Amino acid sequence: MKIAVMKERRANERRVAATPETVKKFVGLGVDVVVEAGAGGAAHIADSEFQEAGAVIAADAAVALTGADVVLKVRRPLMDDEDEGPNELALMAKGQALVAMLNPLIRRSDCDAYAAAGIDAYAMELMPRITRAQSMDVLSSQANLAGYKAVLDATEEYDRALPMMMTAAGTIAPAKVFVMGAGVAGLQAIATARRLGAVVSATDVRPVAKEQVESLGAKFVMVEDEEAAQAETAAGYAKEMSDEYQKKQAALIAETIAKQDIVICTALIPGRTAPTLVTEAMVASMRPGSVIVDLAVENGGNCALSKMGEVVEAKGVKIVGHSNFPARLAVDASSLYARNLFNFLSPHIDGENGNLSFDFEDETVSGVCLTRDGSIIHPMLSEKES
Ligand code: NAI
Repeated sequence: MKIAVMKERRANERRVAATPETVKKFVGLGVDVVVEAGAGGAAHIADSEFQEAGAVIAADAAVALTGADVVLKVRRPLMDDEDEGPNELALMAKGQALVAMLNPLIRRSDCDAYAAAGIDAYAMELMPRITRAQSMDVLSSQANLAGYKAVLDATEEYDRALPMMMTAAGTIAPAKVFVMGAGVAGLQAIATARRLGAVVSATDVRPVAKEQVESLGAKFVMVEDEEAAQAETAAGYAKEMSDEYQKKQAALIAETIAKQDIVICTALIPGRTAPTLVTEAMVASMRPGSVIVDLAVENGGNCALSKMGEVVEAKGVKIVGHSNFPARLAVDASSLYARNLFNFLSPHIDGENGNLSFDFEDETVSGVCLTRDGSIIHPMLSEKES
């Protein structure tokens, strides 16, 4: 069995889908690994390190993909209607398995293209959130780093210190940080802001988040009503809230946000546009010099004024909308992502001969497989069709 690791070509993508550590483990299972030249460059991994781990370096993507059974990528392949680079999907061959973050619920038409090309596509974001799959959970591994980096990005734009400082020249008050959405990214943002000495509060629509937020030493702020009691899906995600709930939530947030120095937005709803939680008026209510970091910007943003890939200023408030926060920590993000992929694939590799045979009875496989033998098979995609 041959695994090809492709170089990422999308703008601002610095991660890579394998590291020397995971290459060595695959090779140890009898797998041939081919890495496209330069694939690890932006994550500071030299071709020679992949070679030492047992990989063969291919001069370009076409050579890397020739004869590959499995293709490992970070992001969905470029297609013919995109201007970030050459059509990567066209380089792939029928029957190849593609394992990457494919964003299938938003990029529904891509799934038709995978099926038409005869590519068996596996979208790692759909990994079920079961205990056994935690080591394969790319959303968690990447969101955790993003939450950490979001706080550091806020400090970069904030012209004050975060901790309270008692100096001979007087006392500096601690910064007030408000985290919106207390999932994986939000909890890491809370922990990071606390470590830096800020006074932290957080909100979510899932009441179970309260205990997690409080255990990190932050105050929990939320609209508690009957709807909130039902706000969590069986998979642990938030539901889209009613207009009435959103109004109550907006009033509470408006009151809270006016007192904050830094707001970290992380609220997401799988397969939907991110909820707009911070309005223009709320931004205007913050004092000049405050900072908002919108981690949800790639899904439409939680702040009405955030712009993807930009730091904008409104009435003295800076709104940070960097694209691809995890890629801003490319070394750690690659290392955790690569391990997630190894942990996903390795149970299905026969260590005697290195052959791969996916067990479709296993929900970690059926949960992420979008297309197989030319057809779309994922239930979430067929539901969307009807
Ligand atoms: P996410 O990235 O989908 O959303 C981030 C947060 O935003 C969530 O906490 C969500 O409740 C919140 N949110 C959504 N709409 C909101 C609104 N209108 N206002 C305020 N907050 C809003 O979520 P993430 O981080 O992926 O985590 C979802 C859940 O999955 C959590 O309960 C987490 O603990 C759980 N989880 C379970 C795992 C496992 O058992 N294997 C692994 C990782 C996470």
